[in-house]
Amino acid sequence: MNVFTAISERSSVRAYKASDVEGDKVKKILEAARLAPSASNRQDWKFIIVKNAETKKKLAEAAFSQSFIGEAPIVIVACGTEPKAIMSCGQPAYTVDVSIACAFMILQAYELGLGTCWIGAFKEDEAKRILKIPEEIRVVAMTPLGYPDQPPSQKSRKSLDQIVCHEKFE
Ligand SMILES: Cc1cc2nc3c(=O)[nH]c(=O)nc-3n(C[C@H](O)[C@H](O)[C@H](O)COP(=O)(O)O)c2cc1C
Repeated sequence: MNVFTAISERSSVRAYKASDVEGDKVKKILEAARLAPSASNRQDWKFIIVKNAETKKKLAEAAFSQSFIGEAPIVIVACGTEPKAIMSCGQPAYTVDVSIACAFMILQAYELGLGTCWIGAFKEDEAKRILKIPEEIRVVAMTPLGYPDQPPSQKSRKSLDQIVCHEKFE
């Protein structure tokens, strides 16, 4: 599968089969995160793999009861470990860096036949308490990971004309 095929075909998965994900597939997905670019190549990130059923259920509750999160065999929780680093453009590096790594994981998962769903709606303080994440660490995103139990959904996107302009902002 080429990159554009993965980008254009992938969609968020909100129903998962109970079947386990093979260890070599999980490793390859984590490798995709490891190889992602980051500001100054700092790699200030940590990815927590959650398989424990009770912990996944608690995370789903922390995510405003999005129960499908707890039904996937794995939940990956993506953290920024140096949240004070601000790039000269004014953006915090960790949100950008961790998001790129998550995007790489999501695409790699798709190539392996696995589903994901970026989860941004969660109570960070609760997620931190559940996973014993230290105070200074930030949780950027989480995603369930598993074999999809739903057909792919149609993409709804703005047209290029709506989002691209030339030479100056229009
Ligand atoms: C930053 C971010 C936060 C998101 N948070 C959630 C979420 O909490 N729950 C959910 O079901 N989907 C969430 N999504 C998935 C989006 O709803 C989804 O990507 C978007 O509707 C486009 O659909 P697609 O992923 O199927 O192409 C999130 C996506 C992003 C990028």
